[in-house]
Amino acid sequence: MKQYLVGGAVRDELLGIPVKDRDWVVVGATPQEMLDAGYKQVGADFPVFLHPETNEEYALARTERKQGHGYHGFTVHASPDVTLEEDLQRRDLTINAMAKSVDGAVVDPFGGREDLEARLLRHVSSAFSEDPLRILRTARFAARFAPLGFQVAEDTMALMKRMVAEGEADHLVAERVWQETCRALHEKAPAVYFEVLDACGALAVVMPEIGALFGREGREPLDHLEKATERSDDTDVRFAALVSGLDSGEREALNSRMKVPNDCKELAAASGSLLERFPADDNPSAEQIQALIDEGDGWRRPERFERILLVLESVGIGADWTTMLAEARYQASQVDPKALMAEGYKGKALGQAIQRERLRCIHDVVVSK
Ligand code: CTP
Repeated sequence: MKQYLVGGAVRDELLGIPVKDRDWVVVGATPQEMLDAGYKQVGADFPVFLHPETNEEYALARTERKQGHGYHGFTVHASPDVTLEEDLQRRDLTINAMAKSVDGAVVDPFGGREDLEARLLRHVSSAFSEDPLRILRTARFAARFAPLGFQVAEDTMALMKRMVAEGEADHLVAERVWQETCRALHEKAPAVYFEVLDACGALAVVMPEIGALFGREGREPLDHLEKATERSDDTDVRFAALVSGLDSGEREALNSRMKVPNDCKELAAASGSLLERFPADDNPSAEQIQALIDEGDGWRRPERFERILLVLESVGIGADWTTMLAEARYQASQVDPKALMAEGYKGKALGQAIQRERLRCIHDVVVSK
């Protein structure tokens, strides 16, 4: 049996960036030979094994065929006769379809190296279109490597457009869409992910609410996302900035279909509803500021309020205002309920006294600006 490092590890090594996971392909072995050599099988029917010590993945060389739509109906064929080239050929992009033997020789039958140099994301073969998830993956790699100058190759963009036009993207399961989107939001230039999906027509199919938002507001949501990307590495802040222009009905529809996790959903809802209430022209009054902090639940969860402020700043509420909001919240949070209790306040009157004192502190901040 022969073993080769494949996929992302070879790509990243050649790009000179740190390698995260190392995946291997094994040519010329049977499952039994892998088990005999001490590897552990992952899943009963799948030809993937874990190395007993490193826990890295070793997959038997395989080919894949597809009859059905979407990503249903795959037949996997793994046997000792499948060659390394055949295994590389079933992969998505040329830069992901290179291998390296243990003696260090790079095997590159599809011009991955050349495309790395030309900064191109190019599909390996027409088999790309058998898996619609690859549209999202290509957009995600574009988002990761855009700062290095990478672009989607013209013929690959044309192929992705054809796939969308033929309805392949209709079969993507919403949870998978979120999974890829969430990963994309972590990348260096997440706005590029949405740009690529928009350019090939997939955005309107997989995230129609965001597609409609782009239709209404043009580049603005992407500007918001870019500003949020500069300010925070966190998915929830980036997501909330992107979707800030949706109305609550659209946001709900998007969130529930994609099963967006609570932290992202809540931050988007809180910042969205705050934005709706934010006075458009004048500086907010002390009462308005108090209502905004109330609405964002900034009294009990100051960390979340900080995140809301990051979103507001990203969508263009002036830095002066967000600084003022932060300062107002901080000063008002210093109001000590115990001191008021010592003065004899309790129950509902105590709650009112706390709010009154807070308002006084906020007022002082507003006046001093
Ligand atoms: N692959 C593919 N089509 C998919 C998923 C994966 O062709 N739908 C192939 C690619 O060749 C990829 C390899 O399987 O390089 C491993 O997939 P994955 O670990 O998801 O990607 P990496 O390229 O390793 O990228 P990352 O750095 O994000 O882990």
